[in-house]
Amino acid sequence: MYYQKRAGEYEQIYQKPERQADLQQLKAYLSRQWMGKHIVEIGCGTGYWTEILARHCALVTATDIHQEVIEQAKLKAYPRQNVQFEIMDFYHPERRQPRLEGLFGGFVWSHVPLQGLRDFLLLCLDQIEAGAELIFMDNQYVEGSSSPIHRTDEHGNTCQLRTLKSGETFEIIKNFPDKISVQQSISDLCTDFEWLELKYFWAAKFKKPA
Ligand SMILES: C[S@@+](CC[C@H](N)C(=O)[O-])C[C@H]1O[C@@H](n2cnc3c(N)ncnc32)[C@H](O)[C@@H]1O
Repeated sequence: MYYQKRAGEYEQIYQKPERQADLQQLKAYLSRQWMGKHIVEIGCGTGYWTEILARHCALVTATDIHQEVIEQAKLKAYPRQNVQFEIMDFYHPERRQPRLEGLFGGFVWSHVPLQGLRDFLLLCLDQIEAGAELIFMDNQYVEGSSSPIHRTDEHGNTCQLRTLKSGETFEIIKNFPDKISVQQSISDLCTDFEWLELKYFWAAKFKKPA
């Protein structure tokens, strides 16, 4: 509901001046991944990262649960016409045959409740072939730049209050895991863990075992 209503104003988050240098680094990093491969993007939102991925991947299956954000994502430029959009709930994903060659999730991990993270990761792994890589990118908590933490729930999830231009306020889960906790979450599921640590963001890459 929150992202449905936020579709038209979502990309303002990418305008924050202090985050621009980090965003350039993330874009450069993503531009080196899955060259010539068919990948699935979960929670693609308005297509901010889809546009980057489509420049060098063979095909991007870009998915989101909300039609409203997909309509925004379709407005981006995909000169190679190599993006296919799908409505998909990442908690009930497509059974993909054949499985795809990679999976990307931008700013999705932080919204997955801690108590559901393992099942979420298993569902992600089920969409890709053995040996394929997964990349998740997300926010670091930076005082003065991030929205404040409003409360921590009984599972340890941190929550923020987000107010839209309309004045409507939503409470959303927004977790800020560090390298160790991300690594621990995947340690018995995946191999080849890599971590990119920036001031405002992180990126984690790992592999489905062959
Ligand atoms: C923080 S936004 C990130 C959007 C985009 N990946 C980006 O980085 O700009 C999270 C996205 O996940 C989508 N989403 C939330 N729950 C979902 C679910 N269960 N299945 C699929 N997408 C979901 C929302 O609609 C939203 O577009």
